[in-house]
Amino acid sequence: MRFDIITVLPGLLESPFAHSILQRAQKKGLVEVSVHNLRDYATNKHKSVDDYPYGGGSGMVMQIEPFANCIESLQEQRKYDEIIFMTPDGTTLNQSVANELSSVQNVIILCGHYKGIDQRIRDLYVTREISIGDYVLSGGELPAAVLVDAISRLIPGVLSDETSALSDSFQGDLLDAPVYSRPADWRGHKVPDILLSGNQAAIDNWRYEQALERTKKRRPDLLED
Ligand code: ADE
Repeated sequence: MRFDIITVLPGLLESPFAHSILQRAQKKGLVEVSVHNLRDYATNKHKSVDDYPYGGGSGMVMQIEPFANCIESLQEQRKYDEIIFMTPDGTTLNQSVANELSSVQNVIILCGHYKGIDQRIRDLYVTREISIGDYVLSGGELPAAVLVDAISRLIPGVLSDETSALSDSFQGDLLDAPVYSRPADWRGHKVPDILLSGNQAAIDNWRYEQALERTKKRRPDLLED
């Protein structure tokens, strides 16, 4: 799967994809992430990408032209399944949105800044608007990194043990059961006996009960349907 991310701050997106699972996914050729500097697509002398809002008001608005130039030059190279704008007023990202997006091939992600982006970009190019939660960040870069991570780990072969994405919290609408590792006794705080029992059926049953209990307590909304 290929992600083309359009941003005015490409440096912000260097690190998130250069480590661990996302780095390995790229090395294996399962995921490709290409970051584009929006300023390279500005045609004016100062390479500015924003201007005052029509009608007045505070803050600057990101203009349509640089985004249109960048998107159209990408579209000349390949067909895109989705053009996603990261914005706090979009649909909230959840596991089912990530699952759905993990089955497509090519995605463009637009990162906004300042007061917002010219509405015509949203009307003419964007196919989906996604928020990562009900809070406002300084720009769309961190949300874009969150989205790419959430999608990429679902692509077959990205995780070494494919079943581990399937047993994540939220897959199957239950939160994860608690997990423990050595030592079995730390300052008198013991790992539950059942996990040391070697009885896999009993362990699976315990994990299910724990997951159910945790979900009831913390996220009863997940059990409503
Ligand atoms: N840009 C700023 N805040 C955001 C959020 N919560 N989700 C997605 N994009 C954003």
